[in-house]
Formats: sequence, structure tokens, C-alpha cells
Amino acid sequence: MTKRVAILISGGGSNMVALAETMVGDHPARPVLVLSNDPEAGGLKKAQGLGIATVAVDHKPFGKDRASFETALSDALAAANPDIICLAGFMRILTPAFTAQWEGRMLNIHPSLLPKYKGLHTHARAIEAGDADHGCNVHEVTAALDDGPILGQARLPIRAGDTPDSLAARLLPLEHRLYPAVLRRFAAGSRERIDLQSEA
Ligand code: GAR
Repeated sequence: MTKRVAILISGGGSNMVALAETMVGDHPARPVLVLSNDPEAGGLKKAQGLGIATVAVDHKPFGKDRASFETALSDALAAANPDIICLAGFMRILTPAFTAQWEGRMLNIHPSLLPKYKGLHTHARAIEAGDADHGCNVHEVTAALDDGPILGQARLPIRAGDTPDSLAARLLPLEHRLYPAVLRRFAAGSRERIDLQSEA
């Protein structure tokens, strides 16, 4: 049976577009909702352009009350009845109560070679550490931030003279290959790991 996928974003949504554009033909899943915690997120318009239902659940009125924000999130999700949630540049920390509800059904893409550099500023931290390689991971979401079983990894060399921006710009196209590849397998019921390597 076709899997229903909700994609959660906070910004431009380029990973969301990469996921949505591949969910066609014999793909075992279809996008049913794009949800943003930022009503101004550029990705919402892109999703509408792709004919996908969108909703914004603004986190700001909830202040520090994460539980109430997540109740609103759950209500919006329930209306779309997804089987799988893909976090794609969703920049809110989720509580263990929420992640437990979706464990085994929620994926995230994180722009570092986990377990290195959980959290923010991953590109800068990899450069500052003098790492030879950088990359991204797609993983199942568990209660701990940027943790959980790894389903895929893409790796690229850090060049002399790389800045956080140049590195992020070279990594993004790899994210756009890795996440759809992992989602396709995951939606078909496989957790077999996918590894991609860029030589440039
Ligand atoms: C991507 O690089 C993604 O890996 C990162 O945010 C960017 C979103 O870009 N995610 C995180 O940092 C999550 N901790 P996009 O909106 O164009 O997909």
C-alpha cells in the first residue's frame, strides 16, 4: 500500500522538493502534507507549486511551551494521516513524548558525519576541526537530538579554502540524492544503509 509522507520544514525546503519530486511513478510513497513551524518559510510556496497540501504551525505563540506546540503539530498531522514523517531542515527540537509517538516512522537529515557535530553550525565546526571529510546522514529520529539508527550517509572531501557556505553549497546536492534514496528504500520496508561518496 502506498505510504503517506508528511514533510516538516523550517526554511527554503530544497530537501523537501527533492523528496517530493521523486515520489512519483512506482515510488512506494506520496507526499500528503508539508508543514512548517515558520509561516514565512519559502518551502511552503514551493510545496503549493508542486500541488502538495501545506500548513503552518507557528511555534512563536507557544513560547517555551513545547508540549502545546507539539499538540498543535500532532493535530495538523492527524488531519493528513501520514505513515512516515520526514524532517527536512525542521529546526525545532522535538520532545521525547513526540519522538516516541513516531519512533520507527520518522526520519531526519542532518548535515554532518554523525556522531560528529550534532546541533548547529556543522559546516563551520568540521572546517575548524581540520576534518578531511564532511557529509550528511539520514537517520531515524529518537529522543536524543540528531541521534538514532543511521540509514544513509553521504561524504565529500573538505577543500583547502572551504568556507562554511562553500561547503554547505557542495553538500546540498548530495543531501538531495541521499534523502530521496533512503526514503524510497525505507517506504518499501528496508532499513539497509545507503552510502554515497563525492570525489569533489
Ligand atoms: C539542510 O542542509 C539540512 O541538512 C539542514 O538544514 C538544511 C535545510 O535546507 N538540517 C539541519 O541542520 C537539521 N538539524 P533546505 O530547507 O533547503 O532543505
